[in-house]
Amino acid sequence: MVDHPVPAPADKFSFGLWTVGWPGRDPFGEPTRPPLDPVVAVHQLAELGAYGVSFHDDDLVPFGSPDAERRRHIARFRQALADTGLVVPMVTTNLFSQPVFKDGAFTSNDRDVRRYAMRKVIRNLDLAAELGASVYVFWGGREGSETDAAKDVRAALDRYREALDTLAQYVKDQGYPIRFALEPKPNEPRGDILLPTIGHALAFISTLQHHEMVGLNPEVGHEQMAGLNTTHGVAQALWQGKLFHIDLNAQRGPRYDQDFVFGHGDVLAAFFLVDLLESAGYDGPRHFDYKPLRTEDMDGVWASAAANMRSYLLLRERAAAFRADPRVKELLAESDLATPTMHPGESIEDLMAETSDMDAAGRKGYRFIELSQLAFEHLLGAHR
Ligand code: GCO
Ligand code: MN
Ligand code: MN
Repeated sequence: MVDHPVPAPADKFSFGLWTVGWPGRDPFGEPTRPPLDPVVAVHQLAELGAYGVSFHDDDLVPFGSPDAERRRHIARFRQALADTGLVVPMVTTNLFSQPVFKDGAFTSNDRDVRRYAMRKVIRNLDLAAELGASVYVFWGGREGSETDAAKDVRAALDRYREALDTLAQYVKDQGYPIRFALEPKPNEPRGDILLPTIGHALAFISTLQHHEMVGLNPEVGHEQMAGLNTTHGVAQALWQGKLFHIDLNAQRGPRYDQDFVFGHGDVLAAFFLVDLLESAGYDGPRHFDYKPLRTEDMDGVWASAAANMRSYLLLRERAAAFRADPRVKELLAESDLATPTMHPGESIEDLMAETSDMDAAGRKGYRFIELSQLAFEHLLGAHR
């Protein structure tokens, strides 16, 4: 029997216009697909069961369009949203494609570029507010360097902070209900990108003037490119109240950014990530940031969009079955990690006075293999 979970708006699936709209241009080859009209993308995504669509300023309005053109693009897009009921949960800025950003945007060694980047963001923040977005993503793909001779990293972080403080102040002054989400990535397109991991970004956020309105948009593949466990990173972001948004996709090991369909990489990692998001009660968008393979035609593009959502729904089902399994519950109950290590009001003297026989603790088996195998088997649907 084959399962057919059907995505619905309540599942909060969203897609970037640049994902389904990626025409397949890569560093080695020309596009393999025609450009996709954002209006068509909105209709198709709604049809497939998504609830939201996100975009970079330049995805919606081609870079350099005169004002009248810009207004026309926005009006058509708004009409498509109204016709379909799709919402815009997140908006972002393209601060990487134009030659002017080749040495970065907020951290370019050229002050005029830094000031231009801020103007580009402010203009698009007004649009984000107009469209009802509640999250604004900052992915600093060009903030970084290829040689350590080129960039004073401490000064660059000063400028990064200055930009975010200034922009956050603008959002507050305008009264926009928007929060910022930083998206870490270790490299590509720069040799080394600033704020390369969830951990770096969290530490940086704590230094910001309006740190309470700045959180994270982690991407599955970006942490894996750095050889890290995405689920652990996302768990820490949740623990710090900083998971504002998430980019779901897949990656196979530390290599170029593959942006595969969610689930088409490390399947166990995807399983535990969905398990975490669902059990932690994350209620933000499940946003897919992937690239439909360059080998596909437009039918393949829509099949890939549906595949992302289906992967998530199937994993959600399997994770719930894992959690509901009585043996799993029994094994999980063996952990007392949720109990504080110190008794309430206990002193260091009390702690030091305690004697306990740790030989038994050293001998005991933790049964993690059994638990892990149960997860694997539930993932494969072996217990239905
Ligand atoms: C990438 C990034 C981008 C960002 C996007 C939104 O590796 O190219 O993931 O896709 O998510 O620019 O800010
Ligand atoms: Mn990516
Ligand atoms: Mn991303």
